[in-house]
Amino acid sequence: METDDKTQAPVTTIREIGQHEGQVVTIRGWLYNLRSSGKLLFPIFRDGSGLLQGVVAKNQVAPEVFEAIKGLTQESSVIVEGKVRADQRAPGGYEIDVQHARVVQKVPEDDPYPITPKEHGVEFLMEHRHLWVRSQRQAAILRVRAAIIKATRDFYDSRGFTLTDPPILTPAACEGTTTLFPVDYFGEEAYLTQSGQLYAEATAMALGKVYSFGPTFRAEKSKTRRHLMEFWMVEPEVAFAELDDVMKLAEESISAIVKYVLETRRADLETIGRDISKLEKIQPPFPRISYDEAVKMLQEGHAKGELETRFEYGGDFGAPDETYISSKFDRPVMVHRYPAAVKAFYMEPDPQDPKLALCVDVLAPEGYGEIIGGSQRIGSYELLRARIREHGLPEEAFRWYLDLRKFGGVPHGGFGMGVERAVAWICGLEHVRETIPFARMLYKIYP
Ligand code: 4AD
Ligand code: MG
Repeated sequence: METDDKTQAPVTTIREIGQHEGQVVTIRGWLYNLRSSGKLLFPIFRDGSGLLQGVVAKNQVAPEVFEAIKGLTQESSVIVEGKVRADQRAPGGYEIDVQHARVVQKVPEDDPYPITPKEHGVEFLMEHRHLWVRSQRQAAILRVRAAIIKATRDFYDSRGFTLTDPPILTPAACEGTTTLFPVDYFGEEAYLTQSGQLYAEATAMALGKVYSFGPTFRAEKSKTRRHLMEFWMVEPEVAFAELDDVMKLAEESISAIVKYVLETRRADLETIGRDISKLEKIQPPFPRISYDEAVKMLQEGHAKGELETRFEYGGDFGAPDETYISSKFDRPVMVHRYPAAVKAFYMEPDPQDPKLALCVDVLAPEGYGEIIGGSQRIGSYELLRARIREHGLPEEAFRWYLDLRKFGGVPHGGFGMGVERAVAWICGLEHVRETIPFARMLYKIYP
C-alpha cells in the first residue's frame, strides 16, 4: 500500500475497501453524485474500481471540509480520508465516514460536466466519448473487453501457441482490394493491414502453432452496427490443421472465453443488463451445418413468411440471413463450405466438390451474426498462383506467400475472431461502437 504524502492515511481503492473495515484510509477519485440533507452530506465517489458512498457530518469535520464537499460539482476530482464502515444497505457493502477532503480540481459551476443522469442521444455521447467512458455501463463494457482479451491470450498461450505479431503496414491485400486504406510508404503505395493471416501462415511454418493479435483495418463505406474501420482481431494459424481442426479450435476458444468472463466479470455483465443465462449455455459441441443446409433453412424461412426475400443459392449471407440462421440455435453455429466464389482467394477447395471452399463462419446466437471467419488454406503452389491471378492481385507482392507452398508446404488453417464482435455479443450490445474505447466509424474520427 502506498501513502499519499498530502494525507496521513494509507491509500486504497474502492474495490479493496473491505480489507480496511474500521480503519482510516485515503480514496482518490471523482465525485459521482451528491445528496444532502441539512447537516449531512452523502457524496458518492468513483475511482475506476467501484462506487463508494461517503457520509459527511457537519459537526464532525472542519467547516472548510464540509463546505468543500457541499460545493462539489459532478466529476470534480477529490482525495478523501475517512473511516471505513460496513453497511448492509450500501452498494458495495461499505461506506466511508469522511474526515478530510482535498479537492484536486473542481469542475466549474458555470461549465458543468456535460453528461448528466438525464438521457442523451447517441450522437451526443459519441461526440463526448472521452467522457462517456467514465459512466458505469461503459466502464463495465471495457472491463469485459479486457477480460475477453486476457482469456483469449491465456487460451492460446496455455496450448502451445506462440504469439507472432504481423506488420500493420503491408504491400498487398489479404481480404480483397476494395477495402484497403492506402498509405504513402516513401513513394511506394502500401496499405494498413486487413488481417495478419498471411504472415501468420509464414510463422506457423516456423513455429507450428501461432497466433497474431492486433489492429486491422477495413475501408468499406459501411454504416452497419457490426462494422468498424479499425478493429482488433485474434488469428490463430496451425500447421497440419484441416477444416475440422479449425472448427474444433474455434468452438473451444469461444467456450473458454465465455467461461472466463462468467467467472470473473459477472457483476459487470449485470451492470450492463446482460441475460447471463444465455451465456451459460455456451458450451461445446456447437452445431455444424453446411452452407447448403443453411441455404435450405433460409428458403424454408421465406416460405413460412419469416424472411422477406428468398435467398438464392450461391451468394454470401447478409446480416438478416445470418441473424435468421443464428436465431435457430442457442449457441454459436458453425456454417462450413461456402461457394469458393464468394470467399477469399486463399481458401482450399473441397476435394468432394471443388466449387466449395473448406471454410467456416461462426455465427453468434441472438442475432449477432459472424464473429469468426476461417478456413483451411490452399496447399498447391500452382492453384494458389492461379487464384492470385484470377483475383487480379499483384503476383509480385505475393512472391513470399507463394514460397510457403514451395518450401515444405503442409496442410494448414486458422481463423480470425473480431474482438469487438465478440464483445458486442457477450455484453449483449446493439452496436459495436460501444465495444472499443474509441470507435473509428464512417466519416467519424473524433475524439
Ligand atoms: O472474415 P474475415 O474478413 O476473415 C479474415 O480476415 C481472415 N483473414 C481471418 C483468418 O482466417 N485468419 O474477418 C474475421 C473476423 C470476422 O468474423 C469479424 O468477427 C471480424 O473479423 N471483422 C470485423 N469486425 C468489426 N468490423 C469489421 N469491419 C470487421 N470485419 C471483420
Ligand atoms: Mg468473414
